[in-house]
Amino acid sequence: MLTLSSTLSLNNGTRMPRLGLGVWQIPEGDPAYRAVQWALDAGYRHIDTARIYRNEQSVGAAVRDHSVARDEVWITTKLFPVDALRVGHAFEASRARLGLDIIDLYLVHFPPPGLVVSTWKRMERLYHEGRVRAIGVSNHGISQLEAIRKSCSILPQVNQIHLSPYHCNWELISYCQDHGIAVEAYSPLTRGKHLDDRRLQDIAESYHVSPAQVLIRWALQHDFIVIPKSSQESHIGTNADVFGFTLDDSVMHELDAYGSTKRTL
Ligand SMILES: NC(=O)c1ccc[n+]([C@@H]2O[C@H](COP(=O)([O-])OP(=O)(O)OC[C@H]3O[C@@H](n4cnc5c(N)ncnc54)[C@H](OP(=O)(O)O)[C@@H]3O)[C@@H](O)[C@H]2O)c1
Repeated sequence: MLTLSSTLSLNNGTRMPRLGLGVWQIPEGDPAYRAVQWALDAGYRHIDTARIYRNEQSVGAAVRDHSVARDEVWITTKLFPVDALRVGHAFEASRARLGLDIIDLYLVHFPPPGLVVSTWKRMERLYHEGRVRAIGVSNHGISQLEAIRKSCSILPQVNQIHLSPYHCNWELISYCQDHGIAVEAYSPLTRGKHLDDRRLQDIAESYHVSPAQVLIRWALQHDFIVIPKSSQESHIGTNADVFGFTLDDSVMHELDAYGSTKRTL
């Protein structure tokens, strides 16, 4: 049975929490600090940040100040493509801002043009040096993953992609799942854009839950890792309250069809 502490086994055997808090656009300082503390209070054990979100310092402080043990919280941060030629330096700068001994997952945020393979080789070096528990990519399509697969020794452990019933690339998802690359869904709540879709609201009403809860549950039932963002305590709480219901197969299929005409990446 899925719970808030459920994890997914990555292709290196590391176990990553299935549900996390995304903190894009939550400002550094009190807003990010409070959001992370509320999430940890609510039982989240996974926070997704990035250098470019400019809130790593508050995220790290909130984790360090919370009573939950550091090794129970999974922290993801990301390499911005401008840093592709100095991966080790960018990684250490993120680690210093977070103020944490180890980062759990380091992702290449976007494919650096012309440098996909060489950047990945630098990521592999970090991993081999034991400075990070897992490495992965974000916004990488099949051609970029194939380039990595053909010339590198480690396959990404994760590909974090824009993913919800309204925005899916099933071909890319199948590729990742066939190659043991965990699929992580970002913008799983469609950045709020489709939460008032009548079809989604009808499904939510039939389960006595919110549209956001339906979207998070859909991702979990597909074995995606999912990182809804919220800066509000009430939303952070309800977004984690998705383990008391199961979407029927027919509803899963209905949701799967929402984005079937769209191809992304
Ligand atoms: N790798 C990448 O390139 C990439 C790109 C985008 C995002 N991400 C990651 O994915 C995370 C999530 O994606 P996202 O931030 O784009 O958007 P999202 O999670 O799809 O949606 C966030 C929006 O939904 C609202 N919301 C949250 N819970 C709600 C609820 N229960 N009811 C109604 N509205 C709710 C939030 O407002 P409130 O704050 O007011 O609750 C916010 O406006 C990011 O924070 C980031 O960590 C990664």
